[in-house]
Amino acid sequence: MADEKQVAVECIDVRREFQDGSRVIKVLQGTNLSVDRGEFVAIVGASGSGKTTLLNLIGGLDKPTSGTILVDGENITKLNDEQMSEVRRHKIGVLFQDQHLLPIFTALENVEVPMLLDDVPPKEREERAIRLLEMVSVDHRSQHMPHELSGGMRSRVALARALANDPAILLCDEPTGDLDHKTGGEIIQLMRALAKKKNLAVLAATHDPETARMADRILLLRDGVLVDELVSDFFKSSGVDVSTRDHDKEISEGPST
Ligand SMILES: Nc1ncnc2c1ncn2[C@@H]1O[C@H](COP(=O)(O)OP(=O)(O)OP(=O)(O)O)[C@@H](O)[C@H]1O
Ligand SMILES: [Mg+2]
Repeated sequence: MADEKQVAVECIDVRREFQDGSRVIKVLQGTNLSVDRGEFVAIVGASGSGKTTLLNLIGGLDKPTSGTILVDGENITKLNDEQMSEVRRHKIGVLFQDQHLLPIFTALENVEVPMLLDDVPPKEREERAIRLLEMVSVDHRSQHMPHELSGGMRSRVALARALANDPAILLCDEPTGDLDHKTGGEIIQLMRALAKKKNLAVLAATHDPETARMADRILLLRDGVLVDELVSDFFKSSGVDVSTRDHDKEISEGPST
């Protein structure tokens, strides 16, 4: 039973068009995707191919023009705003590059925010936040303000916050975009380890071949659909061989940044 695969996210023939004056921009044109819990999937593709659009749809921040999106078995395209907020609070964690920590709150308080919105009692909130900070190895900085933390530490705190309500899926848009190479690598390793440990589906949109190399699967968004067979071609010019992957080696969740 424990080994049974659970589909965390499913997109079926998802289309998203935008109206630009008299012109229709067809971004997603029948995208299909299925991601299991515990799986780490990287989504790559040229700038403007629709990666953020797809994550926004799965995260319920936007509605598809047509098609079905299931999150943890629930068809989110049928939900009203209130129902969608509920699903977002409980099932979806987001880690976006521009998603800053709240500057007037400590690291610990930032992690507590999603639980506050969910009416978790104060004591439990704090205990859970401490455990989450331990998990991402920044518990020694729990009382620090965001500006007193390094970029890597801030990313770890944001990751702890994204996981605060124990979601089924974690959506990441360029999670390492503003971090140096080494720190970015550590964050990705940590995300991967957490996906396995917490049985979480991780979907990361990225331009970074090293991030993609850590994934269980890499999917290329091209011409509005996801494909896996053209991924190596896509990365050819980067000089990184994405067919050799890093993820079989033991992964440390350790700190440093
Ligand atoms: N709200 C919107 N209104 C109109 N067009 C939009 C809107 N959101 C996205 N688009 C268009 O959809 C296309 C895909 O954008 P998207 O941001 O999803 O690309 P991306 O793959 O995330 O790119 P990048 O790698 O640069 O982040 C672009 O042509 C963009 O201009
Ligand atoms: Mg984007």
